[in-house]
Amino acid sequence: MAYPERFRSIKNELEWLYMELYDNRDMLASLESSMEKYASERKNDLRKLDERRIDNPKWYLDSSMVAETMYTNLFAGTFKGIADKVSYLRQLGITYLHLMPFMKTPEKDNDGGFAVSDFLSTDDKLGTVNDVENLADVLRDNGISLCMDFVMNHTSDEHEWAIKAKKGDKRAQEMYITFPDRTIPDAYEKTVPEVFPETAPGNFIYSEEMGRWVLSTFYPKQWDLNYHNPAVFNSIVSAMMFWANKGVEVFRLDAVPYIWKELGTNCRNLPNVHTIVRMIRIILETVAPATILKGEVVMAPKELAAYFGTSDKPECHILYGVSSMVNIWGALASEDIRLLKYQIEDLLTLPPHAYFVNYVRCHDDIGWGFDENKESEIGIDPLLHKIYQYQFWAGKFPGSYAKGGIYNYDEKTLDARTVGTTASLIGLESYESDEEKEKAISRFRLIYSTVFALKGLPLINSGDEIGMLNDESYMLNKEKKDDSRYLHRPFFDWDKANNINLKGTVENRLFSILKVLEGIRKGSSLFSPDAEVFTWDSHNDKVFALRRRDGEKVLLAVFNYSHETQHAHFDYFTGIFKDLLTGKEAEPGIDVELSGYDVLFLTNYCD
Ligand code: GLC
Repeated sequence: MAYPERFRSIKNELEWLYMELYDNRDMLASLESSMEKYASERKNDLRKLDERRIDNPKWYLDSSMVAETMYTNLFAGTFKGIADKVSYLRQLGITYLHLMPFMKTPEKDNDGGFAVSDFLSTDDKLGTVNDVENLADVLRDNGISLCMDFVMNHTSDEHEWAIKAKKGDKRAQEMYITFPDRTIPDAYEKTVPEVFPETAPGNFIYSEEMGRWVLSTFYPKQWDLNYHNPAVFNSIVSAMMFWANKGVEVFRLDAVPYIWKELGTNCRNLPNVHTIVRMIRIILETVAPATILKGEVVMAPKELAAYFGTSDKPECHILYGVSSMVNIWGALASEDIRLLKYQIEDLLTLPPHAYFVNYVRCHDDIGWGFDENKESEIGIDPLLHKIYQYQFWAGKFPGSYAKGGIYNYDEKTLDARTVGTTASLIGLESYESDEEKEKAISRFRLIYSTVFALKGLPLINSGDEIGMLNDESYMLNKEKKDDSRYLHRPFFDWDKANNINLKGTVENRLFSILKVLEGIRKGSSLFSPDAEVFTWDSHNDKVFALRRRDGEKVLLAVFNYSHETQHAHFDYFTGIFKDLLTGKEAEPGIDVELSGYDVLFLTNYCD
């Protein structure tokens, strides 16, 4: 189907949504003409990709897909540097590469690039727009899809709009949410929670130059965009189409729940957020069908369903599996899988088109958002549990092996979050014996196997595959020292990476664990997007289990979250099953013995 036909198929819906939200025909016409322009400028390679994707719309969920996330500068300095390292990415088996924000950003205080000064140019330390396009070409030729972090909730205060707004330009001021005095900001503060209570308290900042209060949900240099203004929406979508034509295949919608503000609400997950995401989906699907949307929705599971939309009016293709991630760490610290199991079951009740990017670590902190109702129901005190988790992962709890840190401790609520690389958290930073080292490696296998078994797409945090440890040097940097998330943003250590082929090294062992997991998934219909996924009762609160099924083929993935030997049995699993990890046989319906942190991928079917 060519563009005009695709456009006709969505025209009514797009116009209806746009007019409902903005009631502005001129701006709608201008949006439609940009769509036509970008569609006509799409290069041949990308048009071919569009056709392939139209024929295979679930391409991003294929069992061969493995994602990785990284900062360009930390991994290879520049976009060209990444292109030069493509053979390493191939060796790791990556098919989807998420680059953290790379658009133009202020020199200092830029929240790791999450403050954007120009949506159409790059941070020149990393390279040019042309370099991004070349990198996307190289990646595509190597079977890797480029994912771009698209920071859509705010700009930096050095964006052209902000600069003009400061000088008094009224139209530029309308791109933001500003007020002459504290009356309305104070009213907002009554209902809007703080994102960074310690490092950036409050939701407004005062711009001396403008003489007005500006809504700034995140850091003071990040000014929230005013999506009530259609000029904002049109500019943002045009920028997305621009990057899609440079070869970006996945847009990570940064902080998307926050984009719509309404006085008297908490300014999160409001209905118009969904109108906007739905419009973005149909616009991109029409202009650049090869692209998909990944929502960064760090919210309670009950909020998530809405971001997938309905099956006939879908919104995001995939969302971050934040609650799975939090509960994986939670289960590991408490050696109790009840909350993890409950949480995964909750996610599996979402509509069939709800798929997640599953991960253990990313560039952000781990926020201890457990399901408080469930906690109370099973007799866990939510506050004490949270305190236990952040103390444990900071190595402050007796017996803890972790070397993480604390992020945004809130004196009023005693809330805090956790930072640290995977390797430092699981005990690879300092161990006193080989036995402890082995345990740490087993923890790595346990949590990554869980991620590879869940419904959706597994994501590796760059550096995890070679056990990168925390980097404390950020404390010496004036702009970074108050943001402990930099603890887990070390420069990729290429000397360590050289060890991946050196048998027996930690790097080689971690890398190999991931390769084995990739091998198990790849080409297996048990990991196809349509395979059924359920949790399964192990009759043991320390043993988590997931069942995958495709017709007669069954896989039972079993995870011992305790450091000690455990026994489990699984009703309705009769007969002998083979473990894909070791080749050993087990009878899951009778008795399965697992040593500390053991993982089994038991199947009745072997190709
Ligand atoms: C997202 C990012 C986070 C950033 C924030 C503001 O939550 O993941 O790193 O600070 O958005 O852009």
